[in-house]
Amino acid sequence: MPSSAVSYAGQNHPRFLDELKSLLRIPSVSTLPEHKADCRRAAEMLMMELSHIGMENAHLIETDGHPLVYADWLHAPGKPTALVYGHYDVQPPDPLEEWLSPPFEPTERNGNVYARGAVDDKGQVWTQVKALESLLAADGSLPLNVRVLFEGEEEVGGEGIAAFVASRPPDLKADFALVSDTELFAPGLPTLCVGLRGMIYTEIEARGARTDLHSGQYGGAAPNPFVALAQILAQLKDEAGHILVPGFYDDIVPPSPEELAAWRNLPFDEEEYRMAEVGSRQLVGEPGYSVLERTWARPTLDIHGMPGGFIGAGAKTVIPAKATAKVSMRLVPGMTPTKSFGLYKSYVEKIAPPGVDVDVRLIHSGDACLVPVDNRYIQAATRALKEVWGRDTVFIRAGGSIPIVGDFARHLGLPSVMMGFGLPDDNLHAPNEKFNLQNFALGIQSLIRFLEEAGS
Ligand code: BES
Ligand code: MN
Ligand code: MN
Repeated sequence: MPSSAVSYAGQNHPRFLDELKSLLRIPSVSTLPEHKADCRRAAEMLMMELSHIGMENAHLIETDGHPLVYADWLHAPGKPTALVYGHYDVQPPDPLEEWLSPPFEPTERNGNVYARGAVDDKGQVWTQVKALESLLAADGSLPLNVRVLFEGEEEVGGEGIAAFVASRPPDLKADFALVSDTELFAPGLPTLCVGLRGMIYTEIEARGARTDLHSGQYGGAAPNPFVALAQILAQLKDEAGHILVPGFYDDIVPPSPEELAAWRNLPFDEEEYRMAEVGSRQLVGEPGYSVLERTWARPTLDIHGMPGGFIGAGAKTVIPAKATAKVSMRLVPGMTPTKSFGLYKSYVEKIAPPGVDVDVRLIHSGDACLVPVDNRYIQAATRALKEVWGRDTVFIRAGGSIPIVGDFARHLGLPSVMMGFGLPDDNLHAPNEKFNLQNFALGIQSLIRFLEEAGS
């Protein structure tokens, strides 16, 4: 039954998109200190918009990093309370030369809007804000109580929101969380995400000589920290993709046979995925596990960069005094960041070659999570999605991480409904990130209908 809020959203869609573009023009890159003020501007724009659409008590909550945005509307006695979550921070846009249009100048092309943050997560945050606006404008009220909490540090580990949630403030009292930061399994296929991997993001620093040295004068006698690091890194994973840290796999809770069977029924072709999404000669990873199992339910280890030494054009004959590597591991249910990091750190210290000192540092971490599906909010979500998309919902996991979702369960006792509208080829964290405009429109409709169903 098309609600009047859904009609309102349809009539106002061009304006919604223009407003989203204004949000996308703010380069709220959380990891880069030079964008600190931009992060605050994005937070302020959201706070003002929430207040403008009729949400109450809209304010910023300061953290040690970028501010949180809070607002609420609590005039539905006897109805449940939703905690609506998203993040306004984005990943750095580099490499800039690969963007077909500038990352912070949102541009429409073939039914998408292209910009850094288009889908991760400003576009999805805007679907939430515009769903709330549509309900408030069309009905003069919300069908349930709503608290909104947006953060600006999700892409850097989310420490500010984690501390706030762990303090269990009365402002976060709710019955469930609505998280819009995930994707559809395939275009047109309504999807709820029910599991996320956790992660530990680390840095290994190897130090050899007191200072940089001439590699001719000292080569053959002085330890080279890059060589040491390469030797360490080469022993973290074997050729089959198995992580070699002793004990790393011990506590994993595998998916149930039913969940695995459901994954086998998803429309997924590994060869198509290799060609169209990954674009590599072949896929890698542990033998005996499908791609979906390897990316959703198995831990993994990746190296992101090795800063240090000489990286300019041309040649420089130097033995650098130190070298670093950024290494992260994705964790799955059963594993904990604390134990996994401890095992990894001891192993790296043990295999470090003679002549170098290594420091193994944890930069940030987050737990893996599985959300319960046997609750009325998930049921309300599948009813709403069926109505808007005309198909039954599929339940999937994601290989990515949203650290706060586990904390919502642990500290606040909240089940999360992870209803997101990205697509697998939306180029998250990569050049030419996009958000499909049809998904933007249907996402707003889905959230409107979901909130109506959850409050019914
Ligand atoms: N929205 C993503 C997580 C995601 C990606 C969920 C794809 C579902 C499908 C989120 O913004 C993200 O990128 N998280 C980081 C978290 C990390 C920096 C702690 C990630 O997964 O790398
Ligand atoms: Mn995100
Ligand atoms: Mn992200």
